[in-house]
Amino acid sequence: MFDPKELKREFPIFKNHPNLVYLDNAATTQKPQSVIEAEEAFYTNQNSNVHRGIYPLSEEATNAYEAARVATAKFINADPTEIVFTSGTTDSINGLARSLELSHLLRNQPTILLTLLEHHANLLPWQRIGENRKLEFIPLDKKFKLDLNEIENITNEIDLLAVTHLSNVTGTLNEVSNILKIFAAKFSVIDAAQSIAHIPIDVKTWNADFIAFSGHKMYAPTGIGVLYGKRSLLDKMEPFRVGGGIVSEVNRESASWAEVPTKFEAGTPPIAQAIGLAAAIKFLSQLGWESIQHHEQTLRLYALERLQSISGIEIFHPPAAEVHGGIVSFALSGIHAHDIVQILAEDNICVRAGHHCTHVLHKEVLKQPGSVRISFGVYNSEEDIDKLIDSLKKVQQMFGN
Ligand SMILES: Cc1ncc(COP(=O)(O)O)c(C=O)c1O
Repeated sequence: MFDPKELKREFPIFKNHPNLVYLDNAATTQKPQSVIEAEEAFYTNQNSNVHRGIYPLSEEATNAYEAARVATAKFINADPTEIVFTSGTTDSINGLARSLELSHLLRNQPTILLTLLEHHANLLPWQRIGENRKLEFIPLDKKFKLDLNEIENITNEIDLLAVTHLSNVTGTLNEVSNILKIFAAKFSVIDAAQSIAHIPIDVKTWNADFIAFSGHKMYAPTGIGVLYGKRSLLDKMEPFRVGGGIVSEVNRESASWAEVPTKFEAGTPPIAQAIGLAAAIKFLSQLGWESIQHHEQTLRLYALERLQSISGIEIFHPPAAEVHGGIVSFALSGIHAHDIVQILAEDNICVRAGHHCTHVLHKEVLKQPGSVRISFGVYNSEEDIDKLIDSLKKVQQMFGN
């Protein structure tokens, strides 16, 4: 187990902002010194483009970039050829949708099964697939969990199942293996943007076809993300972006592609960011999943307990013991989410207000124009939550509740 206050010293942002209470980790995490140094070391010692030069510096850069792919593959128990570097989850899912379409792997009128929890990054790309696609949604029960008893209406053959692992609003943790078994879709994609830094993921256990996640939500730099795909599928798929570095041959009117994953990484890739991602993976691995999960579970339970003391609060969260991860969202009766967050900001508390890119969830399930979300990282402590509660009490006083 680690001491979050000790760990905080490894994050320069807290040295520069000693009073910062950062509870917006679902939006992006802060970066440890080791990640910042890894990027800096690349730029100061190895900077050159990858895969193209045969001079030593370029070879070194290529080796470091490919080593980052190997580390990422190991992190989720995949093969390095199954790791496509992208700019983030949004880019991964957009690319996947485009590639499935270009490769004619979906029927003309595909049925796509989603959930009411999906972030826009895992909804809008599917809204644009084909002209006659049919989108179906798994509803939620009163505990903000997927209601798998309400699925008899979903009778169509499912071409693609697109499900978030961990909701970025309710903190609902979906049982991926179970859902994939129940629906037996032709293709499956899991949005792991919110779980990747909090819950160990093993691609072999899930057996999902595709998984997307972002580096910046797991203590890595911005501008790097991953699209994992099963090798047998990636081999059959068209690149979603074309340009330099991905061909085996080009003629005036046609081109043939390099092997996976190269064929999906046209143009200069995010080299320094991939190296930063490898450093973040090392950082997480050194902490260990058991410690990370114990820490976040303790914080989440403490936060849930303390939040109950705020009158007029409505917490949108499954039963505390039934999930993992560190996301809790709520509303205060009669007070707009933006007003709450503005007052918290005056106390140096960073939390997020709004619909969190989940309009459908807010409109159809939460029935709220927006919510306030707190989300934890490894450097948060109970003290942060105490400050949040004090500040929320101040909000109540100001609004006369
Ligand atoms: C569940 C979920 N999916 C996808 C995304 C998009 O991630 P990115 O902005 O890094 O592409 C987010 C971002 O908040 C998210 O929470």
